[in-house]
Amino acid sequence: MPQAAARIPYVDLAAQHRPLKAELLAAAGRVIDSGQFILGPEVAEFETRFAALHGVAHAVGVANGTDALVLALRALGVGPGDEVITAANSFVASASCIALVGAAPVLADVRADYNLDPAAVEKAVTPRTRAIIPVHLTGRPCDMDALMDLARRKNLLVIEDAAQAVAAEYGGKKVGSFGAAGCFSLHPLKTLNALGDAGVITTGDAALAAKLRVLRNLGLATRENCSSFSGNSRLDTLQAAMLLVKLGHLEAWTEGRRRNAARYHGLLTGVPGLSVPSDSPRERAVYHTYIVMSERRDALKAFLAERGVDTAVHYPLPIHLQDAAASLGWKKGAFPEAERQASRILSLPVYPELPVESLARVAALIKEFHSA
Ligand SMILES: Cc1ncc(COP(=O)(O)O)c(C=O)c1O
Repeated sequence: MPQAAARIPYVDLAAQHRPLKAELLAAAGRVIDSGQFILGPEVAEFETRFAALHGVAHAVGVANGTDALVLALRALGVGPGDEVITAANSFVASASCIALVGAAPVLADVRADYNLDPAAVEKAVTPRTRAIIPVHLTGRPCDMDALMDLARRKNLLVIEDAAQAVAAEYGGKKVGSFGAAGCFSLHPLKTLNALGDAGVITTGDAALAAKLRVLRNLGLATRENCSSFSGNSRLDTLQAAMLLVKLGHLEAWTEGRRRNAARYHGLLTGVPGLSVPSDSPRERAVYHTYIVMSERRDALKAFLAERGVDTAVHYPLPIHLQDAAASLGWKKGAFPEAERQASRILSLPVYPELPVESLARVAALIKEFHSA
């Protein structure tokens, strides 16, 4: 039997929050004392700082990343009769947002870096295509040169799904600043994380930002007049206050993730039967996930679990094979790269607080497994 060793969790939010707890409680206390729970001043301050961080003029706080995508599509007028192209291997929200505004999700295959293949996107364009949703999956930016060029040639909107990629950069420019809008999730497991659900939309377009502010707030153009029926998707003031505390630590956390990724890279490159992600000098990947690929993924996952190492799979079933996509008509084999990856990918613990000896243990166990 394997020897007992301290469990290595996949994420450790308690470790993140322990040193911040007093600061977070003080910030929550200020909101409680103010009584301004709905669109209080912390929301506007968070928006200003998040926009500045991403090099855009505007950011609009919303309730979660899925709503960010839905509201961006709605505000840009995407709806019934339109097709929108996104990645087959993403989290389901990248496609469900399209269906939720009444448009048709069209999927395209990805490259080895888990991001949309621009050639596959181009093949999927039809006269009904209105927009592309590039997903900066794993925190690695998509090939934005090729995708923006395609969008210009075909006159398509670009709405970035940057849910996993706060502060990631491509060619020195932050994600969320390329398209008409950038949509971020601030879910507890994201790299900038609220203490509950939260999201934010970036844009350089003042009119679009104004429209988004109305749409997130029941369509209320003024207190008295609803200009178009909409839901309630406001960012909570309490969450904005938590996020303001955390924003001050984001750079150190991101560098911690990148450092851990570099350590894995050094320890795992060249292990037979295993592939590791590679960094590109044009990109600053933020490693929301650090994903390796193994032909024997399920056995490797079980081997690690038996030895106290938690891992995850993002995601085991591509979007076109989900029950919800059955009516869209895709069969197994439609997106071979996404399907190949789904059976091989394994996300390793990469959170900034991961002790260096724990990371070394994960890598040593992976090597041990692959040498057998
Ligand atoms: C790629 C991607 N898009 C969209 C979302 C949706 O974000 P949320 O869970 O905040 O609604 C997530 C995260 O859950 C995601 O990973």
